Amino acid sequence: MPADFQKNMIFPQNADKTTEIEMQDLLRIENLSVVATDKKRTTQIVSEVSFTVRNGETMGIIGESGCGKSITAMSILKLTEPNIHIDKGHIYWGNICLSELSESRLRKICGKEIGMIFQEPMTSLNPVFTIKQQLSAPIRLHLGLSKPDIHQRCIRLMEDVGIKDPEKTLKSYPHELSGGMCQRVAIAIAISCDPQLLIADEPTTALDVTIQAQILGILKNLIRTNQMALLIISHDMGVIASLSENITVMYGGEIVEQNTRDNIIKQSSHPYTKKLIRSAEELYDGADELTLVRGNVPRPGENRTGCRFAPRCDLSTQRCHAEHPPLVQKERGKGTVRCWNCR
Ligand SMILES: Nc1ncnc2c1ncn2[C@@H]1O[C@H](COP(=O)(O)OP(=O)(O)OP(=O)(O)O)[C@@H](O)[C@H]1O
Ligand SMILES: [Mg+2]
Repeated sequence: MPADFQKNMIFPQNADKTTEIEMQDLLRIENLSVVATDKKRTTQIVSEVSFTVRNGETMGIIGESGCGKSITAMSILKLTEPNIHIDKGHIYWGNICLSELSESRLRKICGKEIGMIFQEPMTSLNPVFTIKQQLSAPIRLHLGLSKPDIHQRCIRLMEDVGIKDPEKTLKSYPHELSGGMCQRVAIAIAISCDPQLLIADEPTTALDVTIQAQILGILKNLIRTNQMALLIISHDMGVIASLSENITVMYGGEIVEQNTRDNIIKQSSHPYTKKLIRSAEELYDGADELTLVRGNVPRPGENRTGCRFAPRCDLSTQRCHAEHPPLVQKERGKGTVRCWNCR
């Protein structure tokens, strides 16, 4: 791992903060399994995923496309497609079980206590409303402020996300703004009611490299100054490592490794995690070709007998192809790993 790569990974909240505030479980996902149903069959998409995000903490979920990252995140606020259902497990927001909550009670939490930003800034904004209308809506709904106070808050939020001319931008429609500006606006909307947790699903993937860095910088600042917890999802280890204190690595709909960021970067165990890190290092070093993990992520329901990563793993043995490894505590050090050969 190049020194710069590590140096650039800034801890948004470090030890100072954890001693200042009481660390409480904000979001607790317990053994979450999610299925997709169609007329013919039910397919498991996410299997027994568990993790906790505590007050002011940052958790990153990483994995290639199709690993079940978004389905996991969307299940928290039941924002998945209608054919996707929680099959087993629970999602707790403090003491509230979100997975059993009515739609109307969920909507009260969504946008107020939990903010969300998505990959495609253009599509997350409504093209027929001005930025002011879209930014005011959650503030009016959840905080019930007066018109002048809403305006003041809109201006402050625009400034918080680094928008130079707030008055002009507030009057604009999404199509009048660049992708980067739209993502700033989407972040402003997500944090408009001071949520305790921000969920960011691939917030920079659709943006070019310079804008990506700016958006990551904004997120880092916001979580530090607002003391917000963050659940960030990405397929890019650089993005995840720069924002997350804890990392969950997903493969084929399940967790394959979970640890603190430092332990993942310095002493990851799972061959899949190692490959993700190597790819990120090579990208950072400006290599033309990334270390590709040969083969593809299994489709939901595929490769259920042994380890789901075995067909792509350089270390796989007969046992790996025959028996599905459980997620276990690492024998040395902290964290959990799902691998017969690396504990
Ligand atoms: N509505 C749906 N019905 C059936 N299968 C679905 C549905 N939505 C997603 N899937 C499948 O579930 C799996 C996990 O999807 P998910 O969107 O969570 O992946 P992801 O890890 O977020 O990938 P990406 O990095 O591409 O966003 C994929 O194989 C996807 O094709
Ligand atoms: Mg996704």
